[in-house]
Amino acid sequence: MAQTHLTRRTFLQAGISAAALIATPGLMAKMVPYRGDRTFQPDVELELRTVTDQVSILPGHKTQVQRYRARLLKGPASTLTELPDVYLGPSLNFQQGQKVRIILRNQLTEPHITHWHGLHVPQRSDGHPMYTLPAGGHYVYEFEVLNRAGTSFYHAHTHERTAEQVYHGLAGLITVTDADEHALALPSGPFEMPLVLQDRSFDANNQLRYLGHGMHDKMQGFLGDTVLVNGRPDAQFHMQSRAYRLRVLNGSNARIYKLALEDSTPLTAIGTDAGLLSQPEQRPYLVIAPGERIDLWLDLSGRELGDTLRLLSLPVPGVLPGMMGGGRGRMGGHGMDRHAGTEATITLAQFTVTERVTDSPSLPQHLVTIPKLTATDAAPIDLSLQMRPMSPSINGRSFSMTDIAQEEQVALGSMRRIRLINNASGMGPARMMAMAHPMHFHGQQFQVISRNTDAVRGDYASLKDGFLDGGWKDTVLVLPGETVEIIKPFEDFQGKFLFHCHNLEHEDLGMMRQFDVV
Ligand code: C2O
Ligand code: CU
Ligand code: CU
Repeated sequence: MAQTHLTRRTFLQAGISAAALIATPGLMAKMVPYRGDRTFQPDVELELRTVTDQVSILPGHKTQVQRYRARLLKGPASTLTELPDVYLGPSLNFQQGQKVRIILRNQLTEPHITHWHGLHVPQRSDGHPMYTLPAGGHYVYEFEVLNRAGTSFYHAHTHERTAEQVYHGLAGLITVTDADEHALALPSGPFEMPLVLQDRSFDANNQLRYLGHGMHDKMQGFLGDTVLVNGRPDAQFHMQSRAYRLRVLNGSNARIYKLALEDSTPLTAIGTDAGLLSQPEQRPYLVIAPGERIDLWLDLSGRELGDTLRLLSLPVPGVLPGMMGGGRGRMGGHGMDRHAGTEATITLAQFTVTERVTDSPSLPQHLVTIPKLTATDAAPIDLSLQMRPMSPSINGRSFSMTDIAQEEQVALGSMRRIRLINNASGMGPARMMAMAHPMHFHGQQFQVISRNTDAVRGDYASLKDGFLDGGWKDTVLVLPGETVEIIKPFEDFQGKFLFHCHNLEHEDLGMMRQFDVV
């Protein structure tokens, strides 16, 4: 397939002079870090540092991690909230319309750049790997919070090291509030809880073990033997008998969870990737892939003192290749049945009613108004997701900082349909190459138009009723055999906006491309 190299015009629009281009052929990888704009008046200003640290995760030895540390320089004190005793970064709590400046200081001994997953921000504040900082470098991000209320997150986006840096701890939640959300009076304060799901493996000294260097492990993506929730191995919560909002983030590298309540009460979702749904939706189970978020409404009203309810991840046998027959390494070493074989039921969290209360907010029947995006004149953009031996790719291409293919050029202000085509079959000898890909798009959120699951076979079929496709999405799981059609606006900002598989090992292997919005 023909590849169009960046033209001089697109460079100019990206704010780079032609002289610099001629002088520095490798420039996209060596861009001068952005230092901010004197005329930008922030409402919120933060300093964010990446550091190495030791934290207690398991009993005994501390674990060496990489983590974010933050300091609020300006803005409401509620902007930063820390989860106690974890490697996760503090939650960044923004309000729609705020102008935010974040000064990132890379205090690791390796390169790093951070991305705000879900936020619609200009290219130079998006954490594109072209801005990767050396050890000791710093970068100034400036953006206005254009997003509606919802749950997003920030994480490392250092090309070819994203998976490892996220694995070692470089991730944290972002919440955005707006007037519509405020009017709903959803459970907040102690009644709003994050649930960040991440799987990890530990050695005998409690140190994190990442993948071996085998290509097979990378192609499959990292699967740990212990699932941590909010960075802890035994998530147990004391609850009142009332309704809660749970902001669930799948912050795992590759693991897909099939969420369900142990007593078979249906799950009620009120929000998805970066926004509230138009109305609550119930499902017997919900699938959450890496990079996705689901806001749950958990109603414990009417439950008795001492009642417990567990949030489970149901078995997903055969869905994660190479894990058939269970996990590797230490199984179930840390409380309950938290080991991570794909045929096991995993307890994610246990909620115990320790206080009876009589009033509880009731579930709003209408949440927010979501305009339905409709089709466009331009032909759909087809993106074919392929697992070739040694290289997962998109339309046969791997990531390049500079190449922009024909179908990757889109006009500013346009609305495009995009077909995500996963042709791999889940059966037969091709099975090891058949994987589900959680496809993520930087920039503005999209809507899912349709899902063709007719050709989804085998174990993967056990996931297909658990998708939450309504509302605004930025990450969507595409099963083997499936074609998912989405519609996405490209407004506000010109520049390079990445799209990639959020199986982070796939991303690092190059299953990433970019749109050039011109
Ligand atoms: Cu959460 Cu480009 O990623
Ligand atoms: Cu993103
Ligand atoms: Cu993938």
